[in-house]
Amino acid sequence: MSSVRHKPLTFMLSNKIQSIHPSLTLTIAQKASDMVAKGLDVILLSLGEPDFTTPLTVKEAAHLAIESNMTYYTPVDGTAALKEAICLKLSRDNNLQYQPNEIIVSNGCKQAIFNTLYSLLNPGDEVIIGSPYWVSYPEMVTACDGTPIFVQTTLEDRFLLTAKKLAQAITPKTKMVILNSPANPSGQNYNKEELQAIADLLIHYPQIFICSDDVYETILWEGKYFNILNVAPELKPRTILVNGVSKSHAMTGWRIGYAAADKILIAALKKIQSQTTSNPCSISQVAATAALNQHCAEEHYMQQEYKRRHEFLFQGLRSIPFFTILPSQGTFYLWVDITKALEHLNIANDFVFAEQLLHEGLVSIVPGSGFGMPGFIRISFTADIPILTKAIERIKAFIAKNT
Ligand SMILES: Cc1ncc(COP(=O)(O)O)c(C=O)c1O
Repeated sequence: MSSVRHKPLTFMLSNKIQSIHPSLTLTIAQKASDMVAKGLDVILLSLGEPDFTTPLTVKEAAHLAIESNMTYYTPVDGTAALKEAICLKLSRDNNLQYQPNEIIVSNGCKQAIFNTLYSLLNPGDEVIIGSPYWVSYPEMVTACDGTPIFVQTTLEDRFLLTAKKLAQAITPKTKMVILNSPANPSGQNYNKEELQAIADLLIHYPQIFICSDDVYETILWEGKYFNILNVAPELKPRTILVNGVSKSHAMTGWRIGYAAADKILIAALKKIQSQTTSNPCSISQVAATAALNQHCAEEHYMQQEYKRRHEFLFQGLRSIPFFTILPSQGTFYLWVDITKALEHLNIANDFVFAEQLLHEGLVSIVPGSGFGMPGFIRISFTADIPILTKAIERIKAFIAKNT
């Protein structure tokens, strides 16, 4: 027997991986799913995933792709057909003109954002992120050797970055600003004037790139969607537009997202993609081409249904004592200030609130701390109205029992 003593494996992992935290939303969802697997009747309102099925025409296109043996590697940056469909979509829906060599198709928006950060950041470069933020932004920035710089927003800002706060956060090390609208978790959407103010500021900082995460673009019932390039086309050389079909077409599992940017940047994203994952799934690319090219009645239905559910859940939660909520403008989330509830219920923080609501009330939501804003919770309305009715009753009963 060898007398060599081995270090525990966790201490042998890279510093890089040890500096990254697992996704809180996925961890919570896993806990809730484990309870469901044990037979508990948990209502899952923690997921960032549509509960609808992928549109029929999209599924048919995928079936046909399999039968036609479209099962081989495709070009690393996506098929010509899908890149054409993306250019057409950006022109048709967003009035933004791109050529296929300014597009890359990735394994979801997530990979497009990661590859963007990987391609642009040097150690110590700062990336400005408004809090509350989507959980993965800071972790991806850290993984790419950058430093996330958080700008705390408030209800008065509608939880969005303001030009004034952004100006205060810019330093000589700022390399990028991430914009997300409609936003996860707040459900708020930048209006034209707000974007114009941000653009007017960023015009003066030619070293700063803008990553615009537009994945919730189509799930919007209040106001109109604008990309920053619609108000400031001169920012195009340093703007990376990211979008995909995960949320718009209930296609989370198909893993198709894309980035549109200057061709030099796209070539950089392609280089890292070519050495890591290669092309995204060939069959999913055919499905996404159909999703973007064809009119899917289901897409409109889903948008209407989210709007209806939002109105229902907002009214239901508003009647709960100690909750403060701003109505969402889009997405499938409501962002609730529970600071008063924590005080009245004598609960230490939003984590403990989420844990207790899960175990005592059998409703799974996500604590705001995971999104960089303690004292809040995010509730997804990715469930139909009868389930939301039950969830509201359970939350009310939980609050009443603990008051
Ligand atoms: C703001 C935001 N961006 C990106 C993503 C990831 O999208 P995809 O499934 O296309 O990787 C999500 C998923 O929750 C999100 O909320």
